[in-house]
Amino acid sequence: MTRVWLLLHLLGFTMWIGGALAVMVAGVAGRRENRGALGAIVRGQSLVYRVIIAPGALVTVLAGILLTFRNSGTRFPGADLWLIVMQACGILAGLLTLFISLPTAAKLGRLDPEGKTGPYFDELRARQKLVSTIAGVLALVALVAGMMVAHGG
Ligand code: HEM
Repeated sequence: MTRVWLLLHLLGFTMWIGGALAVMVAGVAGRRENRGALGAIVRGQSLVYRVIIAPGALVTVLAGILLTFRNSGTRFPGADLWLIVMQACGILAGLLTLFISLPTAAKLGRLDPEGKTGPYFDELRARQKLVSTIAGVLALVALVAGMMVAHGG
């Protein structure tokens, strides 16, 4: 059963980090577009958040917690520390993604960048950029820590 949780853990962060990279690239491409096209890009990003990133983050954290309970313990000297780094960064990144980035993305997908909601749209985009960058860095630190857990420190 542990292998199933590990598979879900790996699948989860593949979806999470992969989806986040796609959103990032689309966001950079959006800089060259007019406001109408930007709206379409942001609606696409919002969908990626809801369908790929958020489920991935949720599955990663849940499977990670289950693995923690089933974990046989340290396999390499120093692996415990890396495990704690992964858990702390992973949970924090998950909370930021699920409780800030996801609702912000959902709201952004419903706003019209060209209408009266334009300034609010820009404000939310700036907030999304900041929070997603912090969550992304934490997720990458968790990934490096996970690699150290798997293959020794
Ligand atoms: C973005 C977040 C995360 C990433 C990228 C990540 C990455 C990884 C990786 C690469 C492994 C090694 C898999 C292997 O054995 O080949 C792993 C294992 C594991 N992860 Fe995570 N992880 C994340 C979040 C979490 C969280 C939030 C928890 C718990 C609260 C957690 C708990 C575990 C446990 C217990 C293992 C098994 C360690 C062992 O085999 O001894 N992870 N993770």
